[in-house]
Amino acid sequence: MTDTVVNQPVTRDPSRPLDPPAEFTQLREDQPIVRVRYPNGTTGWLVTRFEEGSQVFNDPRMSAKRHRHDTPEGEVQDTENLPFDVGFVFMDEPDHGAYRRLLTARFTPKAVQTKLQPYLDKIVDEHLDAIAAGPETFDFVQAMALPIPCLVICELLGVPYADRDGFHHATVDMMDMGKSQEVRDKGAHWLVAYITKLVADKRRTGDTTGILAELINKADGEDSILSERQLIGLGVLLLFAGHDTTAAMMGLSTLTLLTHPEQRQDLLDQPGKVGPAIEELMRYLTIVQFGLGRVALEDLEIGGAQIKKGELVVVAMNAANRDPRAFDNPDTLDIDRKMVRHMGFGYGVHACLGQNVARAELRTVLPKLFARFPNLRLATPLEEVPMDFTGTNYGVRKLMVTR
Ligand code: HEM
Repeated sequence: MTDTVVNQPVTRDPSRPLDPPAEFTQLREDQPIVRVRYPNGTTGWLVTRFEEGSQVFNDPRMSAKRHRHDTPEGEVQDTENLPFDVGFVFMDEPDHGAYRRLLTARFTPKAVQTKLQPYLDKIVDEHLDAIAAGPETFDFVQAMALPIPCLVICELLGVPYADRDGFHHATVDMMDMGKSQEVRDKGAHWLVAYITKLVADKRRTGDTTGILAELINKADGEDSILSERQLIGLGVLLLFAGHDTTAAMMGLSTLTLLTHPEQRQDLLDQPGKVGPAIEELMRYLTIVQFGLGRVALEDLEIGGAQIKKGELVVVAMNAANRDPRAFDNPDTLDIDRKMVRHMGFGYGVHACLGQNVARAELRTVLPKLFARFPNLRLATPLEEVPMDFTGTNYGVRKLMVTR
């Protein structure tokens, strides 16, 4: 184990936009965990292997209450001073579980299948019809990858779809580490003001639709279990986490399958493969670009490194999901891969609450898209597709395709 401090790899090779930064390969071979300088200039640890990464996420001595590491150079942001209460994301057990359980019933596979799937089938078919009636060459992000996740989160939360431009642009600003803190904070404040007004409107009109109305019930009345700040924070969290991630994954998955024609054909010929294919895309693409951190609550050891109480350990999930110790031929997309776990939705108790919603969206869109437009192809070379290199979620900014 060396004490050398390396810069956290964040720059991708533009000619290989589907792969994580190339420096990860050597780092991961050399040692499972290394001292790093994070993008904002602070130092800590970085884990690049799967086994040690899962250990970090599963160890109750590693706390989710942390300062950010992925902000731009010189911008250290304490999560206690964010413009809104991010709720259980930065909490530990037992508070995290108690808080998260307020929402879990709406996100089980069964709830998604019975309550969301019929709506999802309808809106996807409508969008495919609109694509068929429109120009032959079109931007898949605007035509499908963004509208479907926006419609779904609006339906789930009880948010008007007419407001999508506002909440999406505020989200993009807030999550873009290429933008100044002022711009990012402005995005966050916009979302807070938006949800605050929506909550007030719902209280005034007695509107009972969606998760937001259910949360209002939990905040109001004598046996209230949510403060006003927690209520607004949860609304903001679900709104941004629930659409931007899935939109990024939908655009990137489509790009990936367009550049892997045999696997796309395989998926078309055998629709039963869609479930494993989505998991493989989640592993291969791992859109959380800069990793997720945990803080040691006491001195402990990970992968042979002595971590001191209070130190931050970031797991580079995009590197861990390409670890050859955990996956055969990890740099190859293989929808037939026999896989039992990956870190595309995070790992451990904080693993994505909305993963069944995201899966349902991807499972519905991808097969229907390729069945309806079997000749779908990129309208620009892969290297010229504009990628989002600075958002906390990696994705395509625009995806011009011809049907
Ligand atoms: C492909 C799409 C998605 C990806 C890649 C993704 C990724 C993730 C990841 C990596 C985490 C772990 C965060 C951590 O450990 O700190 C997470 C947590 C979370 N996600 Fe997602 N997510 C997606 C879709 C969604 C959707 C659709 C929703 C809501 C409708 C959602 C809501 C949440 C929430 C509330 C958490 C916090 C869970 C906790 O801390 O217990 N996500 N997500």
